[in-house]
Amino acid sequence: MSRVSYVNGRYYPHKEVNVHVEDRGYQFADGVYEVVLVKNRLLVDETPHLDRLERSLEALEIAWPMNRRALKMVLEEIIVKNKLKDGIVYIQITRGVARRDHGFPKISKPTLVITARPLKIPGTPKESKGAKVITLPDIRWKRCDIKSVSLLPNVLGKQAARTAGAQEAWQYDEQGFITEGTSTNAWILDHNNNLITRYLDEAILSGVTRLTVINLAKSEGIKIVEHPFSIDDVKNCKEAFFTSSTSFLTPVTQIDDTVIGDGSPGEFTKKLLLSYINYIDGRPQNELKQ
Ligand code: PDD
Repeated sequence: MSRVSYVNGRYYPHKEVNVHVEDRGYQFADGVYEVVLVKNRLLVDETPHLDRLERSLEALEIAWPMNRRALKMVLEEIIVKNKLKDGIVYIQITRGVARRDHGFPKISKPTLVITARPLKIPGTPKESKGAKVITLPDIRWKRCDIKSVSLLPNVLGKQAARTAGAQEAWQYDEQGFITEGTSTNAWILDHNNNLITRYLDEAILSGVTRLTVINLAKSEGIKIVEHPFSIDDVKNCKEAFFTSSTSFLTPVTQIDDTVIGDGSPGEFTKKLLLSYINYIDGRPQNELKQ
């Protein structure tokens, strides 16, 4: 299937699409982005993604390139043009094209890029294999709540994980508490069945999947504790997992050299993953078999 991408008002064959060499996203990483999951041709959690995009734009004083209603129409159109059933839509907005100078240009028109691609989404928790995670010092800036395209520490962290044969790197702050993964939020279940994830502040991204999983867990009577946890807490936990729009809810079976539980995805995590799969499928809980 040939992909179609959108740039500043027009749809192009993906292979032919371009942005200007002096786009500030390219020269300064002066822009923001969103990755939205598409399931059964529908955007998952569209509103919280667009709300977060708005917060990121406001934080960097970048104007909306179009109003929200128009953006929603382009997102729907890109799904249709790409014949996308299950996949992701990527939205990037930069401050636009201007002669290279660090300060904001007096006049600039934001660049809006939208791409889409298919993604395999697990149909049952059994399809989700456990992931290995390594730990690394968090060397990112102090505004990780902004979904900026400036991702070099995240890129280096993910690559370090891959080099170590792992799927993700969990970053830790100066006090030794886990902040988040390089592109995911981090979670543990303690031996009292408290589900723990770090509270929201400027050290982590407010994950849309994180919020959905909190709501699903609460509706199932699970106790949520939004609090920092240490590497030792992970090593001694009952279960662990990470969440994002592209990794859903991925069980963690090993952190550094420590195996978690019996080294296979935890029962609790699999149950929550099933709830998440049902949620994105829009089907009532009891329709799917485990
Ligand atoms: N990453 N933390 C970071 C640093 C992230 O980059 C992401 C998402 C998340 C999870 O957010 P959400 O649940 O809204 O996807 C947490 C996207 C998927 C990416 O960069 O590709």
